[in-house]
Amino acid sequence: MADKIRVMLSEEQVEVRIKELAQQISKDYEGKSVHLICILKGSVFFSCDLAKRLSIPVTLDFMSVSSYGNETVSSGRVRILKDLDESIQGRNVLIVEDIIDSGRTLAYLKDLLGSRAPESLEICTLLDKPDRRETEVDVKYVGFVIPDEFVVGYGLDYDQLYRNLPYVGVVES
Ligand code: IMP
Ligand code: MG
Repeated sequence: MADKIRVMLSEEQVEVRIKELAQQISKDYEGKSVHLICILKGSVFFSCDLAKRLSIPVTLDFMSVSSYGNETVSSGRVRILKDLDESIQGRNVLIVEDIIDSGRTLAYLKDLLGSRAPESLEICTLLDKPDRRETEVDVKYVGFVIPDEFVVGYGLDYDQLYRNLPYVGVVES
């Protein structure tokens, strides 16, 4: 049986907000090109929609990471399942993520990519759950700040399901 999903952010809300973010980013990077790093799989939908709205030159690369698990690893290390195809040296890199929860994944990624000598390195996340933060991360672009609820849709999954929903919602138990 299909679960019931309560809509938290409608398709229209998400679309409008991404347009705004894209305008802001295009303005901030005016005269430059931006190298988007899409963090698989969750940020695929967001990365595509954001990239389509940018008016500056855009290049894209993909990275896939997986958390090492839980409390037993306090280092915040993540496992790289797929690294970038291209060097980011000297490029204006923008990491595009679906959601920041504990902050561990992005804190690790920012350190790692920062060590590869990019010209600049910023983060853009569609969703931010600040109540859950365990590690401080400096995030330049945030789509929506949301309460501490487990959300699905627009790339976000529950057991790999619901990524294809065009909105962000909460699975009702
Ligand atoms: P962090 O390292 O704790 O910030 O974890 C971020 C990752 O956890 C995201 O990229 C998601 O894959 C996953 N995640 C965190 N919160 C949610 C949620 O509410 N729904 C779906 N995935 C989530
Ligand atoms: Mg994810």
